[in-house]
Amino acid sequence: MELRLKERLGRKFDEEIRFFKGWMDGPKRVGAILPTSGVTARRMASVINPQSGLPVLELGPGTGIITKAILERGVAPEKLVSIEFSTDFYQHLVKTFHSVRFINGDAFDLQNTLGDFKDSQFDAVISAIPLLSFPMERRIALLEDLLNRMPHGRPVMQITYGPVSPIIAQPDRYRIKHYDFVVRNIPPAQLWTYARP
Ligand SMILES: C[S@@+](CC[C@H](N)C(=O)[O-])C[C@H]1O[C@@H](n2cnc3c(N)ncnc32)[C@H](O)[C@@H]1O
Repeated sequence: MELRLKERLGRKFDEEIRFFKGWMDGPKRVGAILPTSGVTARRMASVINPQSGLPVLELGPGTGIITKAILERGVAPEKLVSIEFSTDFYQHLVKTFHSVRFINGDAFDLQNTLGDFKDSQFDAVISAIPLLSFPMERRIALLEDLLNRMPHGRPVMQITYGPVSPIIAQPDRYRIKHYDFVVRNIPPAQLWTYARP
């Protein structure tokens, strides 16, 4: 087998082992059993406008597959703020992606977790946190908090695996769009965006 391919498969295997270990420690917090696919990660990052000059906020980077897609979209690493709850994942991320502003903390407590970025406006939010593990009131409160930190019309992108939006509709408060259904993901993933009307 070609050496480069061997290295790539080895890296992917490491990621899956790391992910599975995280999942064993806290299945409800990690959500999926396998890392997000590259195809899904690129679809999620496609809503970012790298020309806006605004930072991007990522929630639940895990092994960093979506982080990589966000950087490849053209976002400068110092313009990417990424919140990860698990200290194991966080330590790995800091070593892997230099200059990205990783924060080891809770996405549901943004005012404290964001630190220097607590008053920033973000171009977009790319989220892989397992929303279905949290009560609906907390999901709505998080979405409202996120939308207040973005210009009107800019999206919160959320991955989920259920057939319906993980946040209930409130058309006067936010617009929900089913962005994509990605079969090249295990399990197949649904992508939803939320934005102020
Ligand atoms: C489904 S995984 C997504 C991982 C990533 N997309 C990947 O493929 O490697 C969910 C991630 O959200 C993190 N997470 C869960 N609850 C969180 C919270 N309240 N704040 C920040 N991160 C959280 C988990 O630790 C996990 O890394």
